[in-house]
Parts: sequence; C-alpha cells; structure tokens
Amino acid sequence: MNLTELENKMKKFGEMYYIIIPDKGHLVWRYGTGDNVEIFDIEAYKKRQGVGKELFRMLIGELGENPPHAIFAFVGDDNTDVQKFYKVLGFDISHELDHLYRYGARLVSASYKKVKKL
Ligand SMILES: CC(C)(COP(=O)(O)OP(=O)(O)OC[C@H]1O[C@@H](n2cnc3c(N)ncnc32)[C@H](O)[C@@H]1OP(=O)(O)O)[C@@H](O)C(=O)NCCC(=O)NCCS
Repeated sequence: MNLTELENKMKKFGEMYYIIIPDKGHLVWRYGTGDNVEIFDIEAYKKRQGVGKELFRMLIGELGENPPHAIFAFVGDDNTDVQKFYKVLGFDISHELDHLYRYGARLVSASYKKVKKL
C-alpha cells in the first residue's frame, strides 16, 4: 500500500465531527475502529437541564443513516458525574483502567441498538 492509499484508508478515523447547541453545549465525536463511534468530548455549559441528553439525541440522529455497532467514550475515573450521566443513558461502565489515563480512566460503552431510543 502506498502513502496515498494508506491515507485514504485512514481518513475516516482522523476526522472530528462537531455538534453544537449555541450557548448550551457541544459534543465532538469520531469514528473508532471496529464499527463504533467515540464520543471524544461532551459538555453542557449549564448542567442538569437536559442539554447532555439533547446532544446525545442529536448524535443518534446524525448516525441514523449509517448506524455503527457501538458507541463508547473514555472518562476520567474521578469524573463520576459524567459516569452517572452515561449510566442513565444505558451505557456500561468498565472497571478502572489503570494504565490508560495518567490519573485513571473508565471505558463507557453501549451497543447502538441499546441506546438509540432515548
Ligand atoms: C456529562 C454532561 C455533558 C451531562 O450533561 P447535562 O446536560 O448536565 O445532563 P442532562 O441534564 O441531560 O442529564 C440527563 C440525566 O443524566 C443524569 N445525570 C446527569 N448528570 C448527573 C450527575 N451529576 N449526577 C447524577 N446524575 C446525573 C440524570 O439522571 C439526568 O436526568 P435528571 O437531571 O432529570 O435527573 C455534563 O455533566 C458535563 O458537561 N460535564 C462536564 C464536562 C465533562 O466532564 N465531559 C466529559 C468529558 S469525558
């Protein structure tokens, strides 16, 4: 495989996709290997007003045409608020992954089928 062919093969994994609700929050996602999607960043500028859920619904809407097998994110081990949010959405939370983040992380993951109807 030459460089151009390799770049074309990997292009999909290098792109970031941005969902923005002005003044309310954002979600950034990208394709992972294994027919899945990684939520790279999610933030509600004001918490507990349904913005996180709304961003997630928008992601599901964007993926609807070409649904992946699964959705996942890495979350800091001490970021329990975010872990609770994902749990409510139907995600599984892994055990602590000692060697991934400097201060510990967890993998949150769910099949697309499970979380598509929010
Ligand atoms: C994760 C995040 C985006 C959630 O956004 P949000 O708008 O506050 O979440 P929602 O209002 O949609 O919450 C939906 C449900 O999730 C659960 N939930 C959300 N935050 C929670 C918390 N801190 N504690 C317990 N449950 C929580 C609740 O069940 C909530 O429903 P309810 O408010 O009716 O009880 C927000 O906490 C955030 O911006 N965190 C900081 C940024 C961050 O660390 N991002 C992750 C990078 S990996």
